[in-house]
Amino acid sequence: MDSMEKNKIFAAVLCAGIMAMLSGFIAGQFVHPHIPDEDAVPVEGAEGPAGGGPAKPQLPDPILDLIADADIAKGEKLSKACAACHSFDQGGPNGVGPNLYGVVGGPKAHLSDFEYSAAMQAKGGAWSYEDLNFFLWKPKKYIEGTKMNYLGLKKPGDRAAMIAWLRQQGSGSFAMPSAAEIEAEKAALAPPEPEVEESADASEAAPAAEGEAAEAPAEAH
Ligand code: HEC
Repeated sequence: MDSMEKNKIFAAVLCAGIMAMLSGFIAGQFVHPHIPDEDAVPVEGAEGPAGGGPAKPQLPDPILDLIADADIAKGEKLSKACAACHSFDQGGPNGVGPNLYGVVGGPKAHLSDFEYSAAMQAKGGAWSYEDLNFFLWKPKKYIEGTKMNYLGLKKPGDRAAMIAWLRQQGSGSFAMPSAAEIEAEKAALAPPEPEVEESADASEAAPAAEGEAAEAPAEAH
């Protein structure tokens, strides 16, 4: 008798559990929660470059002014990380990546006997200091589709040291950056002026109804 009671209780609990699971599943079939990508009400300054908050850097720091007296020995040390894929000596073998002798100032995809990605071949132009700075900062951001699987050198001083050492591997005659080039690079890579004042004024001038704000997220590019 007693064990019969226990069985009943057990069965009841089991049933309840199954019901709960099933109803959750069935409810899930009918209700598709819509989780919007955008905040319903854009919060000024919450994120993104428009808000003026700590946005992710989209451009590398300028480094041309660091190259002339960069730490060459440090560059050589850093090159160990590249050596898994690259050789640097004249006539050195290609590995996963091409030999890099004379690459600084040379044309992009500078070797004829290496199979570059289509993206690298299409990039065009020479490996200027500016372009190397960008490429070594984030290879896949500079050349989308490059087959160089390397995350990049985040520190400006590291990139300057790397490039200064790389220049000595067959590109010694490539001119050091001029004062004008240094200024131009700084201007090109300067972070955009934070427009906090302006956007604050704008939102005062045209106080949007909340419904409208929800329909028109401010961050369309
Ligand atoms: C995991 C392998 C790998 C590592 C590590 C690596 N590279 Fe590369 N690198 C490549 C490949 C592959 C290419 C060819 C990319 C393409 O064709 O898209 C390349 C291309 C390049 C080029 C352009 C060559 C040309 O002929 O135009 C430069 C410059 C370069 N790498 C520098 C570096 C430096 C400096 C480092 C170290 C900080 C480094 N790479 C680390 C694989 C690597």
